[in-house]
Amino acid sequence: MQRKLNSKRLLLVICAVAVAAFVVGIVGCAPKANPGNPTPQATKAEVTPEPDKFGVVEADQWKDIYPHQYASYLENADNTPPWDEYKDSEDTTSKLPEGYQPTDSHKANYLELYPEIKTLGKGYGYAKYYTEPAGHVYSLWTVTHNGRVNDKTKAGCIACKTPQFSNMVDEQGDGIFQENFKQTVSQFTENISCASCHENDPTTLAVDRKEWRRVMANDTTASMEGQVCGQCHCDYSMDPVTGVPTSPYDNGRASMVPEKALQWYDDHNYADWTYESTGAKMLAVRHAEYEFNYGGEGNHMTNLGYDCNDCHMAAKYASDGTAYTDHHWISPLDNQDLIDRDCSKCHKDIKAEVKAWQDDIDGRTHQIGLRAEQFIKNFEAAIQANSINDSQKAQLQKIQRDACYYWNLAAAENSEGAHNPTLYTHILDNAENLLNEGDGILGTSSVIS
Ligand code: HEC
Ligand code: HEC
Ligand code: HEC
Ligand code: HEC
Repeated sequence: MQRKLNSKRLLLVICAVAVAAFVVGIVGCAPKANPGNPTPQATKAEVTPEPDKFGVVEADQWKDIYPHQYASYLENADNTPPWDEYKDSEDTTSKLPEGYQPTDSHKANYLELYPEIKTLGKGYGYAKYYTEPAGHVYSLWTVTHNGRVNDKTKAGCIACKTPQFSNMVDEQGDGIFQENFKQTVSQFTENISCASCHENDPTTLAVDRKEWRRVMANDTTASMEGQVCGQCHCDYSMDPVTGVPTSPYDNGRASMVPEKALQWYDDHNYADWTYESTGAKMLAVRHAEYEFNYGGEGNHMTNLGYDCNDCHMAAKYASDGTAYTDHHWISPLDNQDLIDRDCSKCHKDIKAEVKAWQDDIDGRTHQIGLRAEQFIKNFEAAIQANSINDSQKAQLQKIQRDACYYWNLAAAENSEGAHNPTLYTHILDNAENLLNEGDGILGTSSVIS
């Protein structure tokens, strides 16, 4: 599954670009790879540094061999977890990189911004604690310091937090997911790091997570640049029996369509938890960034040949003139150089365009969340009043499961609309249609006036 870095694919984008010219806001066209852009070259290290006891070459061991990539990786320290908690914390479980400088950062508390989450996720972890994510270099701190983990938590959520754990899974098998979270995580020192995307050779890309390798085994269409992010930035649920984080896909990108994923959950009789008051079998959805970019037919930009790294880790020049890939994972909207030299060739004002999508989609997600909350209240009232029969109740439980699945898919995707406005609109329509159907059965409207 590995490939050399320097062989950028040939881009066949001419037709797509011709269509694009008719879209409002699009002012020109050009293929992705253009001369004049920084083109990084990397040589394999003559001697690979000695891996730690987990088999991982740690980030700081690469600092003299790949100084620019390493230095930019350290810049992720600026994306600090919720600061009030972080600054008072003595228990910094993870070894933070040398040169690490936390800065003040105020992360959004989603439970305050979107209180409907407390009702929609009642009985599940995300309703107890839900903040905006931080940078990769804090993954071990974040996973150990949040209101979701307790003494009974199992090891599953370490899967996307350190390559040291991934190596243990590869060596010892899935049984490890049954282990106690706190005991297991206390052994680890390395955050999301070079080995998460490169194994122990940064001149190649490699998928670290075994479960993702299962999902993608038969998909020959997916770039490694997208997959290294997708292995973690995807939806999965913890298997109720084995505890293994399992994505609802058996066949790569083609199976990454919301309706098909829901069908997969139904076919596998999957439920993350049961909603106590209504008996609905609920699904918790996680950050499906990969699916929104690459799932099904893919979005416009991946079809133009753009991968996650083209927008979030654009190449640049060091002061000595060396071209390198920037490992500071940031929003493309915060990268004016990238906008000027690339995005602006087609997007007249990408910042304004993205803002318009986000305002629309984020606002609608919130409204539909509020409406789903009201629907649950109406459903509870009908159960109390004994005004629905068993078959209606079963229908309403399924409506709650499905509508909340679509809402959650939109609410948990981290681009707030940017990655795929069309897909967001589609799934929010699905949620709304289901709630209309539910209102019809209950004879009570859930629409918030
Ligand atoms: C989250 C995934 C990820 C992590 C973590 C990561 N890289 Fe990379 N790395 C990439 C991607 C993506 C590329 C660009 C590949 C391409 O253009 O095809 C890259 C490219 C490189 C290259 C090739 C030269 C260049 O600049 O493009 C080197 C060397 C490298 N990374 C070193 C490192 C080092 C050292 C670390 C740890 C300090 C690290 N990487 C961590 C994803 C990652
Ligand atoms: C090993 C799992 C893993 C891989 C691989 C990975 N990520 Fe992440 N990413 C995470 C986790 C977990 C967080 C949240 C960390 C925290 O809150 O401490 C995160 C956070 C981020 C953030 C910051 C989010 C914010 O709102 O500030 C960005 C941006 C990001 N990732 C982009 C990428 C891109 C692009 C790639 C591929 C080049 C990638 N990630 C690969 C797990 C991963
Ligand atoms: C065409 C460019 C593009 C591609 C490709 C792309 N993204 Fe994004 N991404 C964006 C934009 C634009 C935003 C919204 C940024 C903002 O609100 O400032 C975003 C937001 C995010 C965020 C939220 C953090 C933030 O900085 O706002 C994460 C995490 C993320 N993307 C990960 C990914 C991953 C993982 C992939 C590949 C599976 C990917 N992106 C592919 C453009 C892109
Ligand atoms: C070759 C022309 C072209 C370039 C260059 C380009 N885009 Fe796009 N982009 C498009 C087209 C066409 C669409 C779809 C039409 C629309 O909705 O605006 C699009 C849509 C998007 C979307 C919505 C998600 C999707 O794929 O449907 C995002 C986000 C985006 N572009 C970000 C960027 C960023 C960031 C850059 C610079 C790194 C960039 N684009 C460069 C043509 C381009």
